[in-house]
Parts: sequence; C-alpha cells; structure tokens
Amino acid sequence: MRYSSALFALAAPLLASAAPARFYGKRAATDILVFKFADVLEQLESAFYQQAIAKFTDADFTNAGFPSSQIAVEQFKSIQADEATHSVVLQAALKSFGEAPITGCQFNFDAALADVATMAATARVVENVGVTAYLGGAALLTDPVLITAAGAILTVEARHQTILNVLSSTGTAIPSAFDFAFTPSEVLAIAAPFITGGCDIPIPANTPLSLTNTGTVAPGTLLTFKASSLNGTIAEDTLFCQMLIGGAPTSIPLPLSQCVVPEINGPVALFITSDGQPLLNNVRDRAQNKVIAGPALAFIDTKPQMLSQLLRSGAASSGSGSGSGAEASTSTRTISPAEASSVIASASGTAESASATAAPSSGNATSSGSATSGPNTFTGKSADGKITVNGWTNV
Ligand SMILES: *[C@@H]1O[C@H](CO)[C@@H](O)[C@H](O)[C@H]1NC(C)=O
Ligand SMILES: *[C@@H]1O[C@H](CO)[C@@H](O)[C@H](O)[C@H]1NC(C)=O
Repeated sequence: MRYSSALFALAAPLLASAAPARFYGKRAATDILVFKFADVLEQLESAFYQQAIAKFTDADFTNAGFPSSQIAVEQFKSIQADEATHSVVLQAALKSFGEAPITGCQFNFDAALADVATMAATARVVENVGVTAYLGGAALLTDPVLITAAGAILTVEARHQTILNVLSSTGTAIPSAFDFAFTPSEVLAIAAPFITGGCDIPIPANTPLSLTNTGTVAPGTLLTFKASSLNGTIAEDTLFCQMLIGGAPTSIPLPLSQCVVPEINGPVALFITSDGQPLLNNVRDRAQNKVIAGPALAFIDTKPQMLSQLLRSGAASSGSGSGSGAEASTSTRTISPAEASSVIASASGTAESASATAAPSSGNATSSGSATSGPNTFTGKSADGKITVNGWTNV
C-alpha cells in the first residue's frame, strides 16, 4: 500500500491508533453504510486496475493507440495505488467505529478486460461512477467530519476521471462545469454486474441497463437497450428513456422508441422509466419508483481535445459503451442533428426543457444552465397532457 505524505495526513486521524476520541463509538447507520459501500467500490476499482496492469503487454497498449505503454501504465498504477489507499483508510475508519468492513467480494472483469480499448473505456466509466457515488453519499452522511473525509476522496476520484477522459483519445478533459450524483442503488446498477459473489451488500441494486448500440454513440444516435426488466412484461411503447447530464435541473425524457442522443458532450446517465416525468438531478428527491432499469453511463464525445489526441491516436470508439459493458447486437441507426432536435421537440411537452438543457453545450458553454435557461418553475400538465411537470426544484 503506497502512502504519500498527503494521503497519510488524511489517513492518520482516521486510523484507529491515531484517531481522536470522537471517531470512536457508535455512528449513524447511514454514515456506516456509506463508508462500507464506498469501501466496496474502492476494492472493486483497485482490483480492476490490478488485473488490467497484470494482463496487458506493451504491445497491447501500442495497438490501442498509445505511443508508449508507459503513458497509460504510469497513470493506471498511480490510480490503483490511490484506490487501494482509499480502501485501507475507509476500513480503518469503520473499525474505529466498531464496524466490520464488507470483505470477500469477488469481482469478474473478463468482459471489461477484453482489450486495452475496452479496459480504458470501462475505467473511464468506473471513475465517473466513483464521483457520482461519493457525491450521492454526501447527501446521506450526517457527520461533517465524515463528509469532509469522503469529500477528500471525491476530489481525487474526479482527478482520475479527468486523466481517463484524456486517455480516451476522443474525450474532453473536463467535459462539464458540473457532475451528477447517484444513490447507492443507482451505483449498484453499474457496479453489481462486476460483483460475482463472496460478500453481502445490504443495499438493493437498480436493474442493470446496457446499451446494445454498436459503434460510436453520438448526437443523433438512436439508443437501444437491454435489461432484465425489458422482457415484455411492460409494453415498451409505454416506457421512456431519460438522459441526465451534469448541471441540468432535470433529465431529458423521450419515448423509449425515440431515444435519440441530443447535442451533449461528456457523461450521460441513462434510465428507463415507466412515465415521461423528468427525473430530478437531485439525488435526495429523484423519483425512484418509476425507474424500470438503470442508470447506465455513457460518454458522448462531441468535443475531442488536442490533449487527448496527442496522447493516443485513432482509438476505437468503444469508449461510448455503457458501464456494464455494451453487448453487441442491434446496429446503430443515426439521424441528423436537425432530425434529432425535431424528434426531441415533438416527443414530449417538456421539449422546452430538453432543448434548453442541450443548448449550453452546443452553443454557449460558459453561460451554461442558470443564465440562459433559468429555473423553470412551470408545473402542471404538458401540452399533450401526457406528462406532469413538477418544475425544476433542483437546489
Ligand atoms: C420481467 O420484467 C419485470 C418488470 O418489468 C420484472 O418484474 C420481472 O422480474 C422480469 N422477469 C425476468 C425473468 O427478469
Ligand atoms: C453567447 O453569449 C453571448 C453573450 O451573452 C452572445 O453574445 C452570443 O451570441 C452567444 N452565442 C451563442 C452561440 O449563443
């Protein structure tokens, strides 16, 4: 386990030997659960990088477009060391609370480690999930000291995320001014397929959702999905897909059969819901009872940056798959951005919010969100009466 002096400064107050008295004793149940869950994710991430580093050869990395394997390996080793350290520190904190960490989880990354391109794309998803998990966990933590300790990990996960965006060759280093948060159950929709057993995580998982698109997913792509809950029990023409991006007050809802990617850039969380009411970008109040499957996480790379291209050439676009591993099947149908806009405009009475959400990234990125679109306080039925809009209550 590698400790830098800075990490040790974080570790020291949490480690049992050095912990001030207030770290001991009974803790709020949610604080314990968040720390236990965060530790499982750190174990998962650490195991993933360990296996990736062990598996791939120099040639695998150069075949994936890296001029030198060391460009990638150096970063993966550094990230792996951080994740292992996070796990050690979280487990020490749990022990100081008199709690046993969740151990013994077995992970299977076979599909994600098929090749370097898939591995790097999966790592990019995994790190983004780490960010969403700590951000969502912050809403559940009650002790300010623990919120700060978790926040000190969150900021580092976000740096990992940026490095992996850059190593994707197609990505924007920092694609959005805002990230989004997931609940633990939402995180598990993406993480659980990697966990094959050996441990008991006392949190229900949302149904995992996979994209079945092959090839590049871009604005105009009609998204197609696979999930165990999409099995005909519920007629698919009554379902909606919802796309959640950072900074937008709500998700963009579209009928499932018209789930066309709008002009966005960066990570997007995809949900399948039973109605078209937009999901709040607010982890505390997001309606969970309507979620049939997801989230899945995809990256829409519409603004590739020179920095990425400098570090890695001609990467295959497998970077756009979902977190649980895009499975090959149906082909991608792509329509023009103009057609996409018109589908979105006609798809629901929330077209206004949908296009307002998409606009900042296509036009005026610096004035994203509040200035141009402002809070939408409209509540009531949409024009076609199909959707009830609650207004944007995001804080
Ligand atoms: C089919 O989907 C429904 C919900 O849509 C779910 O309750 C059920 O468990 C699913 N069946 C299988 C075999 O996955
Ligand atoms: C961006 O905002 C500036 C200042 O508000 C405005 O002058 C400009 O036309 C906008 N650009 C686009 C593409 O909307």
